[in-house]
Amino acid sequence: KKYKIAVIVGSLRKESFNLKTAKAMMAMAPESLEMSFLDIKGLPWFNEDLEGNPPKEWETLREGIQKADGLLFFTPEYNRSVPGVLKNAIDVGSRPYGENSWNGKPAAIVSVSIGNISGFGANHHLRQSLTFVNVPTMAQPEAYIGEASALYDDNGNLNNDSTKEFFNTYLDAFEKWVHTIAK
Ligand code: FNR
Repeated sequence: KKYKIAVIVGSLRKESFNLKTAKAMMAMAPESLEMSFLDIKGLPWFNEDLEGNPPKEWETLREGIQKADGLLFFTPEYNRSVPGVLKNAIDVGSRPYGENSWNGKPAAIVSVSIGNISGFGANHHLRQSLTFVNVPTMAQPEAYIGEASALYDDNGNLNNDSTKEFFNTYLDAFEKWVHTIAK
């Protein structure tokens, strides 16, 4: 069986190291995982006043989540937490009340930073929110990708063998996690 994995990147910038890391992992994905991006760019801010007549971008995101069998998050760390755009996407997907689109989808988190604390704060704040929206998030192995500016060449290709090896190990574990939990 094939499983659809929605890849969600918490950085909107073109040269994002999170985006480069997502692309590198997607290119290495195990055969049973069909990975595609679920875009959060341009998602209107969550506002309870709009819930009766939600923006179409909210509906598109919710449908994208519902169609996925699993979720793979890539998050930068902004001020030791998750970027607002990513938190907003979590909030939009969790509503309307009682219709949480994230519910039960197996997930994993990769934090990517140019620093050497490797997005630990963002990784765990994201984990906290995902726990509340009932997303079983893989515990091990953890993925803290630090010093990311040294990992990619000018064409965005991953040029570090031990990182490649780690991505393989990580994806194997994620594949097992998805197979175990996805409906
Ligand atoms: C950062 N950065 C950062 N890095 C980190 O390791 N811990 C942090 O708390 C922060 N805080 C922070 C706040 C803001 C507002 C910005 C813009 C940046 C640096 C961050 O790791 C760096 O910009 C990455 O390159 C962001 O990820 P992308 O865009 O390359 O995927």
